[in-house]
Amino acid sequence: MELKYVGKTKDVYELEDGNYLLQFKDDVTGVDGVFDPGANTVGLTIDGVGQAGLKLTKHFFEVLKEKGIPTHYIDADIEKATMTVKPAEVFGNGLEVICRYRAVGSFLRRYGLYAEEGQPLDGFVEVTLKDDEREDPPISEDALDMLGILSKEEYGVLKQLTREIGLIVKEELAKKDIDLYDIKFEFGRAGKDKQIVLIDEISGGNMRAYKDGQYIEPLELEKLFF
Ligand SMILES: Nc1ncnc2c1ncn2[C@@H]1O[C@H](COP(=O)(O)OP(=O)(O)OP(=O)(O)O)[C@@H](O)[C@H]1O
Ligand SMILES: [Mg+2]
Repeated sequence: MELKYVGKTKDVYELEDGNYLLQFKDDVTGVDGVFDPGANTVGLTIDGVGQAGLKLTKHFFEVLKEKGIPTHYIDADIEKATMTVKPAEVFGNGLEVICRYRAVGSFLRRYGLYAEEGQPLDGFVEVTLKDDEREDPPISEDALDMLGILSKEEYGVLKQLTREIGLIVKEELAKKDIDLYDIKFEFGRAGKDKQIVLIDEISGGNMRAYKDGQYIEPLELEKLFF
């Protein structure tokens, strides 16, 4: 097993058969001890948060598999907090695709002149570059194409998949009376045919979820959900 990458919340290993192993850690993104899914720094460490994130991730990726949505998922070992996945090539140095159902977070910071906090948004999709130095700038479809990061055709696939997956996750959470405000996904090209697939994770660390108007912390989300 070869360590390929040390991330903020996961370490990535390459297995002998060429698949990747994601090791979930007990670190979450945030600033000064306060969790923020949009932050680019590790804000705090919470015992058990890695396993909790993997439990949710496993659940959602298995639901997506049943529904025929292409993802990198192979299997997961909750005890060890590891997930085996198909390796994917990311777009440029990586993109984040956000799907929004309510105006909070960076959307509100940017568009606060026109948007009210918590205002409903109809599965609004936006793409940001993974670029810590430049604080993950938002990027348009035209700029992605022009800079050779993502073709317009691929953008269409990405947006469609994001809307479908976002809705599936939203409906899963709604079964437990949990309200999804926004969620962040990653995609990559996998296999010989370079199919666009969902990669990374789907957990409390990548979304803002609320219950009865109260924000739910990542660890709490797992307890409420299962
Ligand atoms: N199937 C996959 N193939 C290749 N890379 C993947 C796959 N799934 C996830 N990744 C990458 O593995 C890394 C996981 O680490 P982690 O989530 O800790 O990173 P991060 O903190 O989000 O961001 P950064 O990459 O800036 O450290 C991410 O860079 C993600 O893009
Ligand atoms: Mg990550």
